[in-house]
Amino acid sequence: MQMCDNYLKLLGKHKTIIHTTFAAKKQICLTFIKMLQMEFYEVLEKRRTYRDYSDRKVSGEILKRVIGAAFKAPTNDHLRQFEFVVVRGKENIAKIVAPLAKNMAAFKKLVAEVDESGDKDKMAMFADALPKQQKMLMESGLLILPFFRQLTCPQLKPTEQSSLNYFASAWCALENMLLAATAEGLGTVFHIPVSDEAEQIKKIVHAPDGYELLCLLTMGYPAENAFLPKQKVINIEDRIHINAWE
Ligand SMILES: Cc1cc2nc3c(=O)[nH]c(=O)nc-3n(C[C@H](O)[C@H](O)[C@H](O)COP(=O)(O)O)c2cc1C
Repeated sequence: MQMCDNYLKLLGKHKTIIHTTFAAKKQICLTFIKMLQMEFYEVLEKRRTYRDYSDRKVSGEILKRVIGAAFKAPTNDHLRQFEFVVVRGKENIAKIVAPLAKNMAAFKKLVAEVDESGDKDKMAMFADALPKQQKMLMESGLLILPFFRQLTCPQLKPTEQSSLNYFASAWCALENMLLAATAEGLGTVFHIPVSDEAEQIKKIVHAPDGYELLCLLTMGYPAENAFLPKQKVINIEDRIHINAWE
């Protein structure tokens, strides 16, 4: 919407674009490009993991655009073999996320074991995230189950890095969806299946053989009081190593 207003303002200023000089036209084009770039970086800034949603419905049109974004991502072997099970309504979602309930204890233990860093930001995130794993997937009334086809080599038995290409492609597609959803004014979150959750969910939705569940993704309009943990500030220059890692 903001982008539309900006364009209209710019076009209004240059109604006589046909009669302007080449240099002026070039300048207008450059301004448009800059606006688009700003919009993209704004989306990057705005993408956050939301775990609190309102029950405002996400329209079918928006959902189609967001899922469409998945198919614009880079993909191994030119495949794009992704399929999406879309589940609407809290009752239907509850049936899909049922396997999560019994695993929550195991999930909490896993997280506690992993954290030996004393990282306060990370613990604040987990303190908020852990109790919300099931609730967050139901609240917006829209759950998406992205599946990808694992053509060779079982997903959990890779023999070399490229065995993970199907998985990596699916994550590229998922990030596209997160950014598209953000551009649509939606929040997103996903739960990574632990223990036997993926296998159980595959059975519940009758996933065909050879297809793997990437995650349980939800998206929706964030609740007014949605909690967002503090994001880490990274000094980019510290993370760039010229020619070699000093
Ligand atoms: C590989 C991966 C696994 C994640 N697993 C979960 C998860 O199971 N449940 C959850 O609530 N968030 C999960 N997250 C979200 C992270 O907690 C979140 O991205 C991180 O705290 C940074 O916050 P931000 O997304 O708002 O920048 C996961 C993120 C990634 C990239």
